[in-house]
Amino acid sequence: MKKDITSRTDIEFLVNQFYLKVRDDESLGPIFDQKFNVNWDTHLVKMYSFWESILFHTGTFNGNPMKKHKEVHQTCPFTQALFERWLHLFNETVNQNFEGEIANQAKVRALSIATVMQIKILYPSDPQQN
Ligand code: HEM
Repeated sequence: MKKDITSRTDIEFLVNQFYLKVRDDESLGPIFDQKFNVNWDTHLVKMYSFWESILFHTGTFNGNPMKKHKEVHQTCPFTQALFERWLHLFNETVNQNFEGEIANQAKVRALSIATVMQIKILYPSDPQQN
């Protein structure tokens, strides 16, 4: 029986494991490491706060993911397949390490955010505005 996600330490573990898979993935890895040249020290800390804010309502994240991904999309266009791969790896990482109510919430929130991102980025109602 696996434990649920209950602390910042669990979130750090989950996020670290997830981005190891992302960096190792042949479709997602190059986006982060080559095209966008992500600074992992800052990105990972930001992602801990993002997930902590979502799952534990800490309010510690103050970024703007939609704006950021629209910028990323200009340099490196997103596709539905990339989002599906991202979600697959995220769900796999949660399932391999945790189970319980918060673990389920993490998967549900990832799906809903990824869905909204896809709609706004891949199917903008007004491309000038988006
Ligand atoms: C195809 C899927 C995705 C790709 C390729 C992708 C890629 C990226 C990249 C390149 C960055 C910029 C990192 C930097 O600042 O150097 C970023 C930031 C971020 N991503 Fe994603 N992303 C994806 C999906 C998602 C999803 C589904 C979520 C949320 C559930 C998410 C959450 C974030 C957050 C919170 C940031 C930081 C935003 C900020 O700085 O305000 N990403 N992503």
